[in-house]
Amino acid sequence: MKRTHNNGELTISNINQKVVLKGWVSKKRDLGGLVFIDLRDRYGITQLAFNPDSPLYPKTLDIKSEYVLEVLGTVIERASKNKNITTGDIEVIVDELTILNSSKLTPLLIQDDTDALEDTRLKYRYLDLRRPVLQNNFIVRHKIVQAVREFLNNEEFIDIETPILTKSTPEGARDYLVPSRINKGSFYALPQSPQIFKQLLMISGFEKYYQIAKCFRDEDLRSDRQPEFTQIDIETSFMDQDDILNVSERMIKHVMKKVKEIDLTEKFPVITYAYAMDKYGIDKPDTRFGMMLENITDIASKTEFVVFTNNIANGGIVKAINVKGGASLYSRKKIDKLTDFVKKYRAKGLAFLKYNDDKLSGSIVKFLNDDLQKELVEATKLQNNDLLLIVSDQENVVNQSLGNLRNHIAKQQQLYSNDDYDFLWVIDWPMFEYKEEHQRYFSLHHPFTMVQSQDVDKLDTDPAQALAYCYDLVVQGQELGGGSIRIHQEEVQNKVFDILGISKEEQQAKFGFLLDALKYGTPPHGGIAFGLDRLVMLLVHTENIRDVVAFPKTNSAQCLLTEAPSFVASEQLNELSLKTIK
Ligand code: AMO
Repeated sequence: MKRTHNNGELTISNINQKVVLKGWVSKKRDLGGLVFIDLRDRYGITQLAFNPDSPLYPKTLDIKSEYVLEVLGTVIERASKNKNITTGDIEVIVDELTILNSSKLTPLLIQDDTDALEDTRLKYRYLDLRRPVLQNNFIVRHKIVQAVREFLNNEEFIDIETPILTKSTPEGARDYLVPSRINKGSFYALPQSPQIFKQLLMISGFEKYYQIAKCFRDEDLRSDRQPEFTQIDIETSFMDQDDILNVSERMIKHVMKKVKEIDLTEKFPVITYAYAMDKYGIDKPDTRFGMMLENITDIASKTEFVVFTNNIANGGIVKAINVKGGASLYSRKKIDKLTDFVKKYRAKGLAFLKYNDDKLSGSIVKFLNDDLQKELVEATKLQNNDLLLIVSDQENVVNQSLGNLRNHIAKQQQLYSNDDYDFLWVIDWPMFEYKEEHQRYFSLHHPFTMVQSQDVDKLDTDPAQALAYCYDLVVQGQELGGGSIRIHQEEVQNKVFDILGISKEEQQAKFGFLLDALKYGTPPHGGIAFGLDRLVMLLVHTENIRDVVAFPKTNSAQCLLTEAPSFVASEQLNELSLKTIK
């Protein structure tokens, strides 16, 4: 029989129609001969009813959860309606019933609020994916991709695929390697991003490229990271930073409108990296709440507190956050917990002051004279019942610890809503950061990023001070996308490789083909990539990236369903001239 309707479709307007439905048994209730079955498919649930005198009754006795059924029946109005589902006004009295397939007892309940362990869910992912909440995530994912394609196609971007078996691309993670059978001893690397290929496509003259691209990075996994993930990857020629921010912003707004029916009319705020670090302590600030970092080094230097003054004498700084209403919320014990929290970020301690009845209290108050107390209250805008949390250390430790503490407290106190989409651009990133432990410079974005025109000379004199044409799109404290204007002159590219300590031989071996290509009329170009998985997470309100990837890996990079990675037969290793060391 051909299906006439899906299970989310029938309403009161279909009364008395003969319909054919197919789907899975979500629930069966037998009220002493009167049998109800909830039939589920991707679209919803329809209630089937079998009368006590129905000749089909004996057959219903065999039916269990997740059996696949085909029914022919008549739509009738329900006696007790269910307002929670679209088909809640009707039910289908079944005249013909075919069991298309049976099902073993499933190891997890197929319902939104399952209590199954995540390991079980991932091992039986095909069953987990039957749960409506997950089905919805992938429908949203699909809609996002469609909206992105629609927008970019309209803007004359061309979708071009780039290789998966390729050479290492420097995005800062470890590569996944694939041994070559034909070229023994050599390896392909899976792309960490299509970065170099999309630049080559600009040299080829395509001008506007995009790709929904799989990327592979062997890095420590977190709740927002998968070893293979998907980027909305974009590259353009002859556009400057403002043009790229503009087209990207319009794309995001188009997606929000199409998928969520949200009109983001305001221009996304633009802040500099320096401002983000100063006021939020981190480069991906969550701007849905205040509690910004206040630099109180000046005031701290005038106190008698040696922890502050010694640190400042050693080139350190002191910053504070004002936790509104925190004085009564945070007991000594709770503040100790916050102290443990900042220690994870290498802070040596967390000083605090409470403000009540227009007076400061706390262990360090004795080191502040009246004038300094007044100055501090004004600088940090303290009001009664506020709590001031202070870290004194080297600048990077202060920023990291207070920046993360700010997010931690906001989460504890639920100071934000997931419906607040605070998109913002962070621009003017430094080209490099110097890592003491490695005694060398590293690119903050990647080595193909262009130095800002006023800072070209700094590449020779003080690379750490040179700013890049580089930008990140941040929302709800997450990095959603990042990109840059690229270097299109060979001399500048050479210089950047030199600063990064990449020897001439290594430059040739790793990027010789790109350096060569730059000699043949490379247009000025730049681009950006957005994390598609993260965009889906944002729009379906989940903090777990595995909720938006159909067949994800665990935090130890395993697929519990297929049991990958797995050992291979010794013949396969022999063919590849490989030996594993036990
Ligand atoms: P970047 O490395 O910043 O830039 O990556 C772009 C975006 O991809 C997402 N992302 C990830 N998502 C899930 N799991 C991961 N392991 C993961 N790593 C990154 C983030 C990030 O903002 N080639 C450059 C882009 C460019 O310059 O055009 C690049 O890959 O949302």
